[in-house]
Amino acid sequence: MLYLLSLTFARVILSIPPQKIRVCVVDLSQKQIDAWNSADLPIYEPGLPAVVEECRGRNLFFSTDIDTEIKAADIIFISVNTPTKTMGIGAGRAANIKNCELCARKIAQVSESDKIIVEKSTVPVRTAEAVRRVLECNEKGLKFQVLSNPEFLAEGTAIPDLMKPDRVLIGGVQDEAGLAAAEKLVSVYANWVPREQIITTNLWSSELSKLVANAFLAQRVSSINSISALCEATGADISEISRAVGKDARIGNRFLNSSIGFGGSCFQKDILNLVYLCETYGLKECAEYWNQVIVMNDYQKKRFSEKMVSNMFNTVTGKKIAILGYAFKKDTGDVRETPSMFVVRDLVLEQARIHVYDPQVKREDMWTEMEYTVQMSEATHPGLDAAVTTSPDAYTACADAHAFAVLTEWDEFKNLDFQRIYDSMAKPAFVFDGRNLLDHAKLRKIGFEVKKRGTSEDSKRKDTTAGDENQLRSPFLFDAVVDIE
Ligand code: UDX
Repeated sequence: MLYLLSLTFARVILSIPPQKIRVCVVDLSQKQIDAWNSADLPIYEPGLPAVVEECRGRNLFFSTDIDTEIKAADIIFISVNTPTKTMGIGAGRAANIKNCELCARKIAQVSESDKIIVEKSTVPVRTAEAVRRVLECNEKGLKFQVLSNPEFLAEGTAIPDLMKPDRVLIGGVQDEAGLAAAEKLVSVYANWVPREQIITTNLWSSELSKLVANAFLAQRVSSINSISALCEATGADISEISRAVGKDARIGNRFLNSSIGFGGSCFQKDILNLVYLCETYGLKECAEYWNQVIVMNDYQKKRFSEKMVSNMFNTVTGKKIAILGYAFKKDTGDVRETPSMFVVRDLVLEQARIHVYDPQVKREDMWTEMEYTVQMSEATHPGLDAAVTTSPDAYTACADAHAFAVLTEWDEFKNLDFQRIYDSMAKPAFVFDGRNLLDHAKLRKIGFEVKKRGTSEDSKRKDTTAGDENQLRSPFLFDAVVDIE
């Protein structure tokens, strides 16, 4: 039997043949478990309801009876959250592995037989050592093997990522018992993943690989976003650059979409964690290198809200602005570290009236994240609740607005009736397309003032205005003029 222990958020192994393996997800929260046992699952993930419906009650179960399920399990996955520490040593960077340790203590206390314990959570390298030591203190003579098996699925594509993963990574202690435990887990995945895609390594390589994979992905986004700023200054177009650069097989074309910055529960946290690890081992230059990915991401988010304000005649005070999309990416309702939150924060501080429409985001989640991440709430900023309205659809959000901004790339935004939206808006009607999602030529034909990412169209227009400081110019030409003088 296989059991999945999760005190917060469940990621489920779904496609295992029912006759072979029984999976039980356990959580402390009765509310979460009730939701998993209902038709209204606690997270939005395309394809997930169908799979849960098919497996639930057959070989997939959800329960709060943690002790019973631990006792019965052969393999236990620890899938708890490991948030960035908010206080104490390493605050703001180190991952808090408190929940992992609590799980290990619980398993040691309750177990009556030997087990394999799998770290599924993203953890700092050498966390498995702490888990192993806690488990060893069980005083019952029980043997636990600790494996690392990081999760690489992305939200919004979780089901295809689980069904057809690029790779499965399993790290274990390199002795006979450790290798045997790793092989047992390999045989679980081998039910649906080709063996050559299941990589086995030592524990530390596995733990660190997860951080490195996320750091590399985030670095690509920050790299292309840094070039979008350069495009805006020079006349190059970021979409054309992405296409041209991505055609190089060594670089590849994925994760080259310029955006208003990356969000989500993983990238920021994992890079901070990597930075902290480098610092801990005295690798100052490495820490600074990776920290720059975060610096660039913050710059990109800030740049976007500043451009909105400057384009709208340097003031948004009292103006209604529609925000289309609040989730950190499409096909999820997740708002953790969402770049939209930072844009909304900046605009609220400029005293704009914000109307948010997102097909999946709940207002309460918006506020929870805002309070947690940018420390803004009605208590700290009286009037915040009234300044941010959540709209039932894009048309209501945009009616009478001076501008709308596309901050999440939801497909449905492409097919809106933009003539209807334009007719309902104040003029000039601005569009800030943070995802370069819409048909800009069509929008301009309707009459919108369109501002997109990573092109110098704005600057080109200014270029025609005599004396404008933001004119496009070549730095070399400028030098030449100086020389002649
Ligand atoms: C990420 C990793 O992709 C996944 O492997 C890991 O298991 C968890 O972290 P996730 O956070 O779900 O997954 O989303 P991802 O698709 O990686 O996007 C993260 C952020 O980067 C989003 O805000 C997205 O909009 C942004 N992004 C991504 C860009 O801005 N441009 C891109 O080209 C790609």
